[in-house]
Amino acid sequence: MAPWTRVCPLSELPEGARRVADVDGVAVVVFNIGGRLHALEDVCTHDGGDLAGGELDGYEVICPRHGARFDVRTGAVKAPPAYEAAAPLAVRVAQGWVEVRDERWD
Ligand code: FES
Repeated sequence: MAPWTRVCPLSELPEGARRVADVDGVAVVVFNIGGRLHALEDVCTHDGGDLAGGELDGYEVICPRHGARFDVRTGAVKAPPAYEAAAPLAVRVAQGWVEVRDERWD
């Protein structure tokens, strides 16, 4: 089972903020939306745009390159030109730290 990786202290990810982390060579973005944390691989499935640089519209992140939308809770595509879901990661708070885990390979 993949280990949990620390991203930052929870105090550094207030509501409305986002943080990027490297998890075993994979760029990950964690969003705090309404006090809930959601993590996605920081790669747009259309053409590799960084989702961390995208605007949020509710629970949807808008890729800054060509405007594809993804649900940050699931990675599901909500608008083209992307057609494949972004990869969600598990996220938790442990001892005051935000941690993520890539469960795709478990
Ligand atoms: S790279 Fe994200 S919409 Fe094209």
